[in-house]
Amino acid sequence: MRFLVTGAAGFIGSHICERLLDLKCEVIGIDSFTDFYSRKVKKSNLEKLRENFNFSFIHENLMTVDLFSVLPGVDYVIHLAAQAGVRSSWGKDFKTYSDFNILVTQKLLEISKNFNLKKFVFASSSSVYGDSAALPMTEGDILRPSSPYGVSKLAAENLVTLYNKNFGVPTISLRFFTVYGPRQRPDMAFHRFIRSILRNEKIEVYGDGEQTRDFTYVSDIVDAVIAAAQSDAVGEIVNIGGGSTITLNKAIKIIEKGIGKKAEIEYLGVQRGDVPHTKANIKKAKKLFEYSPKVKLPEGIINEINWLKGDNLLCRSAQNF
Ligand code: NAD
Ligand code: UGA
Repeated sequence: MRFLVTGAAGFIGSHICERLLDLKCEVIGIDSFTDFYSRKVKKSNLEKLRENFNFSFIHENLMTVDLFSVLPGVDYVIHLAAQAGVRSSWGKDFKTYSDFNILVTQKLLEISKNFNLKKFVFASSSSVYGDSAALPMTEGDILRPSSPYGVSKLAAENLVTLYNKNFGVPTISLRFFTVYGPRQRPDMAFHRFIRSILRNEKIEVYGDGEQTRDFTYVSDIVDAVIAAAQSDAVGEIVNIGGGSTITLNKAIKIIEKGIGKKAEIEYLGVQRGDVPHTKANIKKAKKLFEYSPKVKLPEGIINEINWLKGDNLLCRSAQNF
């Protein structure tokens, strides 16, 4: 089985590639090392992968790469490459969100329709829901994204559905809910909090810390992506949550316990684009491909702490991200 993984050098992409190689699949990774965070971090995400002769890497931007030369022989496309980040999607940076999230997805779908793929898995996001009136968030809910990032992911998700309906591309869109664990992106809350506490620096909490998130451990996301790819489900949109919905304040307490040190917290204003609460209804994922998250928050947080402790990323200053 040959997989094409876009965004292979990123947080989630590198974990998915590793698991696929463990399963003896052939993996082609594409990544352009966008400058959202340090390319050194992305290169280190690829280190283990590069040792495997079943892994090949294309260092190119999907906007310009000749996909007609990449797709022949590919069975599965796992499309993760995107400009992530909710709070940074305002203003002039939206061009990057629209280029990398919308245009790139349309290009990939347009070319994919010419090939006999077994599945096209798209990494969608809980951010498509916005400030949902009802919790848990369920796939059929009305979607009103609260951030330009959410708008770009929803546009891409709609394109994915259109290419399934009109051209029979065998798609599935997975709405990931706040993913954490080793290699988490350096702009995300747990990474920032753990790194700052380890370095005796204060942490910044946006709002009163009573917002809730359905935090999802990265290996559960990997399980879901692979199960969805192999399932018979086609043309579907499916939530992937972690089953650990908790307030940020409570999550900080778990981090403090895991590190054995109290955090110095500065509470700042609510950031534009942030939603107050997320919680995934995961019944559909369970029904379609027996998804069931396994990693509980305290265990997952310890894994992320240990990763950051062992990583020389700690020596770098925050500005390098
Ligand atoms: P990430 O930034 O770590 O990984 C994305 C990778 O894609 C990066 O390495 C980047 O260099 C690459 N990339 C971006 N645009 C590209 C382009 N045009 N050409 C080639 N490479 C390109 O992000 P992540 O957290 O691993 O997220 C992966 C996917 O999951 C994204 O689609 C994101 O929207 C989605 N998602 C993530 C989360 C989360 O909590 N991390 C939650 C919901 C959805
Ligand atoms: C995350 C990812 O960053 C998005 O790429 C993804 O699409 C989204 O999940 C999703 O679920 O769809 P977010 O929930 O904002 O977005 O994740 P974090 O960056 O970990 O933030 C979690 C909470 O902590 C937010 O309320 C945020 O405002 C807060 N936060 C973050 C802080 O209080 N301080 C910080 O330094 C960082």
